[in-house]
Amino acid sequence: MSESGECEPAGATCITVTIGATVPTGFEHTAAEEVKEKIGVDAKISKDRGRIYFSITTDSLFQVHRLRSVDNLFVVVDDYDHYEFKESKEETLAELKLLASKLPWNDALEVWKLNRSFKKKKSHRRGGNKLKVKPEDGQDTAEVQNEQGELPEGVSEDQSIADVTDQTEVSTPDQEELSETKVMKFRVTCSRAGDKHSFSSTEAARDFGGAVQEFFQWKADMTKFDIEVLLNIHNEEVVIGIALTEESLHRRNISHFGPTTLRSTLCYGMLRLCKPQPSDIILDPMCGTGAIPLEGAIEFNNAFYIAGDNNDMAVNRTVNNVFHFQKQRVDKGSAFGLPIDTVRWDLCNLPMKTGSVDIIITDMPFGKRMGSRKKNWDLYPSCLREMARVVRPGSGKAVLLTQDKKCFAKAISRMGGLWRKMHTVWVNVGGLHAGVYHLKRTGGVFGQTPEDIYNVPQGDGSSHRDKDSSETS
Ligand SMILES: C[S@@+](CC[C@H](N)C(=O)[O-])C[C@H]1O[C@@H](n2cnc3c(N)ncnc32)[C@H](O)[C@@H]1O
Repeated sequence: MSESGECEPAGATCITVTIGATVPTGFEHTAAEEVKEKIGVDAKISKDRGRIYFSITTDSLFQVHRLRSVDNLFVVVDDYDHYEFKESKEETLAELKLLASKLPWNDALEVWKLNRSFKKKKSHRRGGNKLKVKPEDGQDTAEVQNEQGELPEGVSEDQSIADVTDQTEVSTPDQEELSETKVMKFRVTCSRAGDKHSFSSTEAARDFGGAVQEFFQWKADMTKFDIEVLLNIHNEEVVIGIALTEESLHRRNISHFGPTTLRSTLCYGMLRLCKPQPSDIILDPMCGTGAIPLEGAIEFNNAFYIAGDNNDMAVNRTVNNVFHFQKQRVDKGSAFGLPIDTVRWDLCNLPMKTGSVDIIITDMPFGKRMGSRKKNWDLYPSCLREMARVVRPGSGKAVLLTQDKKCFAKAISRMGGLWRKMHTVWVNVGGLHAGVYHLKRTGGVFGQTPEDIYNVPQGDGSSHRDKDSSETS
């Protein structure tokens, strides 16, 4: 699993370990691509959707924290592709207890220590034993904690945090941090997926956690822990790891959350799909909190982003998020502003010239938490038509996320002359199966294709809708 050796600078010892990363389900290949591009190693995509694994030497640990496609990071202690679980619950749990004392912990613990030494200090997680829930709608919210991947049908999943002892807090963290003899506080988090297990994640976390406590003489603490041990069980695959992130990296850009804020990691995946080029004009016409254009302006900053929404609160949130992020940068000594502007507009009548935009990338209302399914039947065709007008014929692209697949399919089928569907990435958005549709603008001239039969072309090539003859109602 891990080995020691020499690495840069010459003579320095560093360890080779396997890093595990949770990523938005559906974007595993995008994450693997990013790892190859930025760290130069191949990543293995796990059977357990939403995870990738790759080897690093410890001198590149800081680069791992710069990845934009990963949510949580951990260092692998050990893994088993085909763990043979015993038939009975008692036997299985007894074996898990034994496992704790047999694992090769040393290198992973070294990496955890190293990680701690340069990692930004963040506050301890609280409410550790809180049950994680899937959001009603499926799009991310500030409160929702569960970012588990989508599971194949018939596969059950549960997740638990070991509650091995019942004790009161006695810590004074600041003083304790300084002490070499400090007793470590830990917790075990077990996530389990599969329908052939005789035990629950709670039982596995409890018994494995008890054995870890005994082996290291650590103290269990569900909320103010120094170290989090992960026990990931997916059918017969078992991975034991130590967490390297305290909080998912997907929250990195946003300070003002909205009801359907999209994870920055998912935004990154969508942005990568459309390959922004220098000087591209990129629109998010339904920006909500601005998560997509903000991620773009940070990571693909040679392009210019325009974020718009028809809701005042959403526009304010975007402005605040951009401002907050810029301020953080200025505080750190960076003078550069972000290439992004925010506008209040109605997507169906954009104040943009025909053919003036390179890429449209947006997260459309699913019609659950935001808008309604009924309204989508009007909204989607109008959106696609107006997007087709402003995007450059022949080269323009759109990357659109929606869970309302039926409505989207119908709307796009009527736009054949203006949009060509390239491919679809199926993603899990907070438990909902959604599609990221990659479209290319055909060379069709707007206003002259059958799709625009209800639009009256203007002298400048733009058009307005003939409200009385909308085919969408
Ligand atoms: C799913 S949310 C976008 C969430 C966003 N990606 C985020 O991370 O916060 C869809 C957004 O579309 C906006 N919207 C709906 N109809 C619109 C229209 N006709 N014009 C502009 N924005 C619209 C809503 O106000 C909402 O903010």
